[in-house]
Amino acid sequence: MSLIDKLDHNRLPAHIAIIMDGNGRWAKARGLDRGEGHKEGVEAIRRVAEAASRASVQYLTLYAFSTENWRRPSEEVNGLMDLMVYALTRETAALKKNGVRIVCIGNVDRLPGHVRETLQECIHETAGGERLTLVIALSYSSKWELTEAARKISRDVKAGTLREEEINEEILSQYLTTRDLPDPDLLIRTGGEQRISNFLLWQCAYTEFYFTETFWPDFNEEELYKAILNYQKRERRYGMISEQIESDQK
Ligand code: IPE
Ligand code: IPE
Ligand code: MG
Repeated sequence: MSLIDKLDHNRLPAHIAIIMDGNGRWAKARGLDRGEGHKEGVEAIRRVAEAASRASVQYLTLYAFSTENWRRPSEEVNGLMDLMVYALTRETAALKKNGVRIVCIGNVDRLPGHVRETLQECIHETAGGERLTLVIALSYSSKWELTEAARKISRDVKAGTLREEEINEEILSQYLTTRDLPDPDLLIRTGGEQRISNFLLWQCAYTEFYFTETFWPDFNEEELYKAILNYQKRERRYGMISEQIESDQK
């Protein structure tokens, strides 16, 4: 029996975010180049996106490349960019067929032209997808995003289109790249590290975290369902006490 049958369909996370970590160590353990780990990581993305869709998860955000990852050796960065183009080109038709809409968050201006164009084409082609929104965080970091938001808010206040008194949490959220997305319910990090690495700092204010030692290329549907089951055992209190949550659920 697959773990999918054990999920409580009334308590599914609407939005799962994943820090896909451990590709390099997966490859190293096999005496392979880091690039082989990234390639195998693409296969894991396909598996996990399908599994999420099967479990009726509505939003899946994948941390694919951080602002800090630009500091890696240029050979690895170029390899990752080529892989991105390869994967997007290969998958666009299937994504469209399966009702998957691709969205990108991050500083796309830093991407090489051909990567940006392939990405835009995929976003355009899959725009009608209604089953799963697959958000790719590419050249993304939370501090970059929040700094950009501060700049835009200041510009709008100066231009008179936003009044300082109007600024609240809701308004600030509207200045983030995630403005159209709900906050993640569950954040998974593979690869054993227990840190956030500049990912969705604002949006994860009340997200449940799940860490696993499994390297990303080994992550699969059963591992995803295991994480969801673990999430379903938790009580999200948002600062309140258990009794309040229980009476809310009645
Ligand atoms: C995650 O795997 C993929 C990216 C950051 C692009 P890593 O490449 O960080 O793998 P490790 O952490 O070195 O094993
Ligand atoms: C985080 O992984 C970024 C992505 C998964 C894209 P890293 O491997 O870059 O994280 P740190 O730098 O070790 O924290
Ligand atoms: Mg890593």
